Amino acid sequence: MTAGGGAAAVTVVDHPLVQHKLTMMRDRDRSTKGFRELLNEIGMLLAYEVTRDLPLEGISIETPIGPMKGRQIAGKKLVLAPILRAGVGFLDGMLSLMPSARVAHIGLYRDPDTLQAVEYYFKSPSDLADRTVLVLDPMLATANSAVAAVERLKSRGAKDLRFVCLLAAPEGIARFQEAHPDVPVWTAAIDERLNEHGYIVPGLGDAGDRMYGTR
Ligand code: PRP
Ligand code: URA
Repeated sequence: MTAGGGAAAVTVVDHPLVQHKLTMMRDRDRSTKGFRELLNEIGMLLAYEVTRDLPLEGISIETPIGPMKGRQIAGKKLVLAPILRAGVGFLDGMLSLMPSARVAHIGLYRDPDTLQAVEYYFKSPSDLADRTVLVLDPMLATANSAVAAVERLKSRGAKDLRFVCLLAAPEGIARFQEAHPDVPVWTAAIDERLNEHGYIVPGLGDAGDRMYGTR
């Protein structure tokens, strides 16, 4: 399902496997182990969708029977850019499908009072201008973190970016599209709204804490 406007599209990945696993993740009684495993599995499924239109090029190979022209993904290796901490939950699943991808780590936390994103770490490959960058974070709430992460990557030269999340709030999508109308979004669901603390309703709670058992 894809929705658009002036900004790049928002694609809701409504595949039954994704929806089933997402419902399991939302359950407040899901264990830390289960939550992490499901995020990893959904990461794989979202990777499949977000890379669907990557350009291919011909390559000559020999099968055991004879020569053929195969197809391979064209251009430089992709960059996966997880926003710490929760974005790391997507990383292993995506790397298992794209084992040669480069990784950019973006350390951001949301100030609980102002809800502004505060950067504490950034490390990325230097040649971002020539690569497709997949920015990863399960939660798009106010979008302050996503907007800041994409700004940082653009300031380092990235031009071709895609944002991948698990849950988005309508407010977060609007803010993200306003700030970065050139960056398409893939999400497994768009929930109802944000609450007064900036949490997604009904959501799944604090993704980082649920992944790492920190609260
Ligand atoms: C969470 C989540 C996103 C951010 C989303 O991170 O993983 O990065 O909040 O909220 P926003 O759209 O309003 O910016 P958090 O700051 O809790 O850090 P953590 O992943 O280290 O727990
Ligand atoms: N960050 C989370 O982890 N969950 C939310 O609902 C909002 C921001």
